[in-house]
This record gives sequence, structure tokens and C-alpha cells, in this order.
Amino acid sequence: MLDGAEGPNAAPFTRERIARMYQYLASIGRVYIIEVREGESYTPVGDVALSERMIPIVIGDARWRGRGVGTAALQEVLELARRLGFSRLTAHRIFLGNQASERLFARVGFRRDRTGVDDEGHGYGVWVLDLRDP
Ligand SMILES: CC(C)(COP(=O)(O)OP(=O)(O)OC[C@H]1O[C@@H](n2cnc3c(N)ncnc32)[C@H](O)[C@@H]1OP(=O)(O)O)[C@@H](O)C(=O)NCCC(=O)NCCS
Repeated sequence: MLDGAEGPNAAPFTRERIARMYQYLASIGRVYIIEVREGESYTPVGDVALSERMIPIVIGDARWRGRGVGTAALQEVLELARRLGFSRLTAHRIFLGNQASERLFARVGFRRDRTGVDDEGHGYGVWVLDLRDP
């Protein structure tokens, strides 16, 4: 998961870093836990955050990747963004070669606006979605 979200060979997060990450995301936007319903119970499998600056999403439970959960969650968040009056969203860092993420964001309408290289030399794309587009 970290390879996709943070770049190839990312070091595992400490609990303190995880706490800082969620505090930061909650300070710039809204953080949602993604749950799947199985029978009468709901199981948390990932999270997504909505802000104008970034829209990070992970399905942390690998058993639930590639099964449409990310697409469904992102579509819900985009609907919310529209209702909140956001005009543009940016997925600020999608590592080149992260096919699942690139296809996920492309599928819901984002386009790659530009590319960059992080401090570790990993290439990434900056993807944008103009919510005013019909
Ligand atoms: C990226 C991620 C959030 C996508 O969520 P998901 O629930 O697995 O995605 P979905 O099942 O909704 O599929 C979305 C698209 O990705 C494609 N996809 C899914 N897994 C894939 C894989 N392993 N390889 C290639 N394509 C893949 C699907 O076919 C679909 O594309 P399509 O509509 O063109 O067919 C999830 O895989 C994940 O958490 N990965 C690790 C962390 C990460 O990379 N986060 C993103 C950081 S920007």
C-alpha cells in the first residue's frame, strides 16, 4: 500500500506518523473511512480524504483491492465535492506506474496535468478534475 501511496520502497509509517498524517488531512479537509458491507456488518477497508489540495485514497486491506471499492468511494467523494461547491480537485501525487491509481482517477474523470520527480527520484503525475465541466 505504501509503495503505491508514498512511492516505491517507502519505509513503514510509525504510529506517530500515522497520527500526524490524519491530523494534517483533517486540518485541510475531511477524512472518511471506507467500509464494505458484508451481511449486516460493516468492515473498514481503507480511507479517503477530500480537500482541494489533495485527494488521497487507499484500500488498506489488499483483499478488497481491484473490486470496485476505490471507484465507488471516489465517486461518492466527488459528489460531495460538487455539493460543497468545489470547482477543481487535484490528486497531487500519483506515482508513474501505479496503474491501479492512474486508472482509478482517469475512470472518474481526472486527467494528468503535469509530471514531477520527488526527492527520492520517483516520477509522479499531478492529476486534476474540473468539476465545472459538464
Ligand atoms: C489505488 C487504489 C485506491 C484503487 O482502488 P481499488 O478499489 O483497488 O480500484 P478499483 O477496483 O475501483 O479499480 C479502479 C481501476 O483500477 C484498475 N485496477 C485495479 N487494480 C489494479 C491493478 N492491480 N493493476 C492494474 N489496474 C488495476 C481497475 O481495473 C480499474 O480500472 P478500469 O476502470 O479501467 O477497469 C487501491 O488499489 C490502493 O489502495 N492501492 C494502494 C495504495 C495506492 O496506490 N493509493 C493511491 C495513491 S495516489
